[in-house]
Amino acid sequence: MRIIYATDYRDMSRKAANIISAQVILKPDCVLGLATGDSPIGTYDQLAAWNQKGDCDFSQVSTYNLDEYVGLAPENPQSYHYFMRKNLFSRVNIDMANTYIPNGCNPDIEAACTEYDALVAAAGYPDLQLLGIGQNGHIGFNEPDVSFSKGTHCVELSASTLRANSRLFDGPDSVPRRALSVGVQTIMLARRILVIASGETKARAVYDMCFGPVTPACPASILQLHPNCTVIIDQDAASLCPKE
Ligand code: GLP
Repeated sequence: MRIIYATDYRDMSRKAANIISAQVILKPDCVLGLATGDSPIGTYDQLAAWNQKGDCDFSQVSTYNLDEYVGLAPENPQSYHYFMRKNLFSRVNIDMANTYIPNGCNPDIEAACTEYDALVAAAGYPDLQLLGIGQNGHIGFNEPDVSFSKGTHCVELSASTLRANSRLFDGPDSVPRRALSVGVQTIMLARRILVIASGETKARAVYDMCFGPVTPACPASILQLHPNCTVIIDQDAASLCPKE
């Protein structure tokens, strides 16, 4: 695990966008695993700016998102489909037919999960997987548990995640209780992983991810075992980490 210290959110975002842009330049038809949340918004802003300048061409890229709330239609502004269109897809020259997000509206949840796993496998798994981290150490929507998850599955969101994500809804009671999430095993199959974290609310999770024991109680800790994982953290998120 390689840790890169950034000064602030903006610096973290530019560094992350540089790595993603390099991936797209090196392999124009690469597969990107993408994340939602506040963490990647600055990264997507930077990628969109470079794309508009002609410096980062998404025309052959395909993308697979980590997760989606159960029951939210793609047009719902709180859905991750909507988030991705707003923050990245509508701003770059990507072919929407090459963008994939779990279908939280399929009444047959098991079929939705199996179909998504088949799609990610057929794509050969991401060349680069971008991840944020939850305050409790979750990645995607893989919550702390007694074992690491494997493929795409339906998750009951924890109280901590409902609380953290309620800022985007009308309070905790309106946050969907369930989500579909790609599993930890699938995340680990990406050839390269890039984790970004900013702010002191992430400091504990960042410490546990990078320096704690590898345990499903902190799902992100398994990334210590990935052969090519880069973590970019700003000063606040790094506040509990040993100084270099
Ligand atoms: C959400 C998403 C994750 C994201 C995490 C952190 O629950 N499912 O993919 O990494 O929360 O979000 P944020 O970046 O907004 O702190």
